[in-house]
Amino acid sequence: MNEFQNYPKRSILISLTKPKLVKLEFNNQFGFHPLTNQPYSEQYYELLKTREKLPITATKENFLKLLEDNQVIILTGETGSGKTTQIPQFILEAGYSYGGRKKICCTQPRRVAALSVATRVSQEMDVELGNEVGYTIRFEDKSSQRTLVKYLTDGMLLREAMTDNNLSKYSVIIIDEAHERTISTDILFGLLKQLLSTTRKDDLKVIIMSATIEHKLFQEYFNNAPHLDVSGRVYPVDIFYLEEPEEDYIAGSIKTCIQIHLSEPKGDILLFLTGQDEIEDCCEKLNSRLSQYSPNERGNYKIIPLYAALPYSEQRKAFLPSPNDKIIKKKIKIKKDGKGGEGAEGGEGAEEGEEIIETTLYGRKIIIATNIAETSLTIEGIVYVIDPGLSKQKVFNPKKRVESLLVSPISSASANQRKGRAGRTRRGKCFRLYTEKTFKKLEKQTTPELLRSNLGNVLLNMKKMGIKDLLHFDYLSPPSIELLIRALEVNHYLGGLDENGELTELGHQIAAFPLDPQLSKMLIMSKHYKCCDEILSIAAMLAVSNCFVRPKKNQNLADQAKARFEDPQSDHLTLLNVYKEYDRNKKNRNSWCRNNFINYRTMLQADNVRNQLFQILNRLNLYSLSDIDYAKNKTLLKLNFKKCLVEGFFMQIAHQLDNKNYSTVKDKQHVVIHPSSGLALFTEWILFNEFVLTDRNYIRTCTLIDGQWLVQIAPHYYNVTTFRKGRTRSAIELIFLKRSFFMKNLKNIQSLQNKKKNRFGSF
Ligand code: CDP
Ligand code: MG
Repeated sequence: MNEFQNYPKRSILISLTKPKLVKLEFNNQFGFHPLTNQPYSEQYYELLKTREKLPITATKENFLKLLEDNQVIILTGETGSGKTTQIPQFILEAGYSYGGRKKICCTQPRRVAALSVATRVSQEMDVELGNEVGYTIRFEDKSSQRTLVKYLTDGMLLREAMTDNNLSKYSVIIIDEAHERTISTDILFGLLKQLLSTTRKDDLKVIIMSATIEHKLFQEYFNNAPHLDVSGRVYPVDIFYLEEPEEDYIAGSIKTCIQIHLSEPKGDILLFLTGQDEIEDCCEKLNSRLSQYSPNERGNYKIIPLYAALPYSEQRKAFLPSPNDKIIKKKIKIKKDGKGGEGAEGGEGAEEGEEIIETTLYGRKIIIATNIAETSLTIEGIVYVIDPGLSKQKVFNPKKRVESLLVSPISSASANQRKGRAGRTRRGKCFRLYTEKTFKKLEKQTTPELLRSNLGNVLLNMKKMGIKDLLHFDYLSPPSIELLIRALEVNHYLGGLDENGELTELGHQIAAFPLDPQLSKMLIMSKHYKCCDEILSIAAMLAVSNCFVRPKKNQNLADQAKARFEDPQSDHLTLLNVYKEYDRNKKNRNSWCRNNFINYRTMLQADNVRNQLFQILNRLNLYSLSDIDYAKNKTLLKLNFKKCLVEGFFMQIAHQLDNKNYSTVKDKQHVVIHPSSGLALFTEWILFNEFVLTDRNYIRTCTLIDGQWLVQIAPHYYNVTTFRKGRTRSAIELIFLKRSFFMKNLKNIQSLQNKKKNRFGSF
């Protein structure tokens, strides 16, 4: 028995003094695992060998000493040096779980990274995933009481801070990939800085880990915390720029891939593109282009897509060994003067006057990835990087109140990260599909997400974490006042914040859901409209990605399949139809999805999300089964359902200009309905889930509504004095007028009825 397992029995004695570190000795002389008391598996020893070679291992002692002496450490290192996988293990071994009383956590901006790294570390530590090593991501928790090392998304740690403002279960908090500057990471910086100087002065340690950029900024922010760099050996990477800008970067990428594959020495290729559709499309094109070469020209290759929405099992393919090299033997005729002539391929044994020469066609992985491969996943063996210089970024325009994902140029810091991916195993090459002049003009760093996002949801979370003054919070980079005001405004209109900017009861409820406040408000109101189950399904379907599959080869069939679900008045109801049908076909959901061109994985995810949302709704006492038989009364269902949508989305309404042309109500943005919509009718008012900015302004996932409901449900927002003079204002005035006329009549009728009652006595 080691000290760790004895610890709980002696905890009363020890708790009187300052808690002592309880070292965990892995790989000890007894050959038994200190946590499970079992012998180690073979895999453990195998992984140990690779771990020992990681650059970070050499700095272990140095790092632990620094941790002992400091509250905050800034740790940088090239991607792949072992920060994410090893640092939490070093800390655990050094005793910072205090005999199982405290946990160590490590945040990741991406769900996949948290999941994959937790899986890897559980293997390295030889424990079952979910026990001593676990992970928590939105809608998925694989951790338990026993968990000592937890990987979680930065957003989930923020959620935890909402219920436990001091994050008291953690002794060490690691903020990883800090250079990504996601909103949640930025808010965590402020929160941790505050905790370190107040309630957790003595018993919390914080480690900020990032790629080899920006460490000075973090050091200054955390009162000159020490900085440690753990970069190991990296090989030089030669950079190639284009002489002239490339018009079509996809075509350019494909051309470059083929050139490398056919003519460069051994090594895998990594191409950075911007999103799922583009990647899938490019995989298909590249495959068809390469298959035009004969097998003896193209050798072996494997084209592998890699993006966040891909299931884990598919993502693992990027980590499998490269395909085999292919050796081609060619007969070359030797002329009498000794020079070679044209030869036939293949064949064994040389004849007189002939020579056989061997050429090796290198087998390669060609990985086509989003930014996910920039820092959060490390794939060994990459020697060639192709970088078109673009990525998809979320941009919020507070004036237009539009949040959109735009393909934008990356920063030079990102470009250098991408380049670095080529020099992990040996000298590499990076092909930048832009000119050197363009590179010099790139922004130095990516703008932090906090400065370009809709903060509606974040703001409620911050309030719930006990942060009172959002304007004067100690941000690493403060967002503009305009952004903060927009967020305050949205939550105020929804009823989540009162006049003083404090959380209302509704605000607390809204913040309980890991969703945009509009969606949460709609869920909360569903009990009132007797349609909890329907709204739960819709919220889940809106929270996951698009469920409709439209393969290039079968577009017509896919469209026909989709048409069967479509509701002419509401894309939201279309989604509900899909979910209901899917749910009804419980026995063979997979084949049902295939036959109906529905993405099975998306539906599984929607099911999971729905279940989680149901639990929150139920916990808040806001769920009830409807007593209306909607199967018999579809009109009533539609009415209740649509009104409930308006409860959340009354700020996302467009007013008709003509036919399919609309204008958003307050900001007067000219918008058209997205071509993917199944609406067959167009009426004066339309509610939309999303404003998409591409070549035009589109509104996507729309439902026709009655203007009456707007002034009924949100009179404070539809206060005519807040509208500019024009068509929309006149239309709202008219609704109010009709309404007051109606109310007056209603009063007259009621008083008439009362008079009758008085005359004849009560019935
Ligand atoms: O965090 P950093 O980029 O410094 O490195 P890491 O993620 O800790 O990776 C260290 C090593 O573990 C890499 O060489 C990867 O090959 C390996 N690893 C893995 O095999 N599977 C993962 N999910 C994560 C890392
Ligand atoms: Mg890492």
